[in-house]
Amino acid sequence: MRKPLVVANWKMNLDLKSGPALARDVADGLRRLDSHANVDVAVCPPATMLTTIAQVLSGTGVAVGAQDAYFEPGGAFTGEVSAAMVRETGATYLIVGHSERRHTIGHLEDDRIINLKLRAAQHAGLLPILCVGETLGERQAGQTLDVLTFQLTAGLVGARLTGADDLVVAYEPVWAIGTGLNATAEQAQEAHRHLRNELTRLIGPLADAIRILYGGSLKPDNADSLLAQPDVDGGLVGGASLKAESFLGIIRAAIGTRAK
Ligand code: 13P
Repeated sequence: MRKPLVVANWKMNLDLKSGPALARDVADGLRRLDSHANVDVAVCPPATMLTTIAQVLSGTGVAVGAQDAYFEPGGAFTGEVSAAMVRETGATYLIVGHSERRHTIGHLEDDRIINLKLRAAQHAGLLPILCVGETLGERQAGQTLDVLTFQLTAGLVGARLTGADDLVVAYEPVWAIGTGLNATAEQAQEAHRHLRNELTRLIGPLADAIRILYGGSLKPDNADSLLAQPDVDGGLVGGASLKAESFLGIIRAAIGTRAK
């Protein structure tokens, strides 16, 4: 049985006033939802807020994650933070391989770097959320499933995969991120089913325990149909996570889907 997981990715938004206020509103709202024990929730703020948000959310049941960390354990890497430093803040999740880090931000991270970051996360005691997804060009060229196979397989080289606490996967089609154009429920299910089949190839029946999240213009009004798909186990939410009401709407939809 996979318990739904809904993760907020605040990206480079909010500040030390609005961030903690939003975290508090999410925790308060979650407490008031029926059956809130049936969902896992995490928020991933900018690195500068990690410690503060972890303190605000301490004891609420809402977990904290970071959006990135460097793979080296320490040393002369100006501007970077290590996975152990992230863990020290109280965070327990780490997003790795987000499409903006693969395609938008200066370094253009490749699958080898993403794999090193995933392993560093596990080593530091963080649960990695490995993001994979095709560009519009790749989808139009019929390459979606091949891209997913490659990114998943490359990302997991040498990873520890012994249970649900070792890995979360997020399918985030690049063309759906921040565009208002979400994948259809059928497109999402096809990609998620493929990812689960590939996970089964890699790790056997344990693949049934790994949660695969959908991300890309997820909102309260499309969450019901997307999250109800048999292989969609929750969401990774950008824009709609910046308001408590819309983020809680997605959490409500996740609770409404049966545990899979
Ligand atoms: P949006 O929900 O804003 O499309 O962003 C999705 C995302 O990138 C989450 O990591």
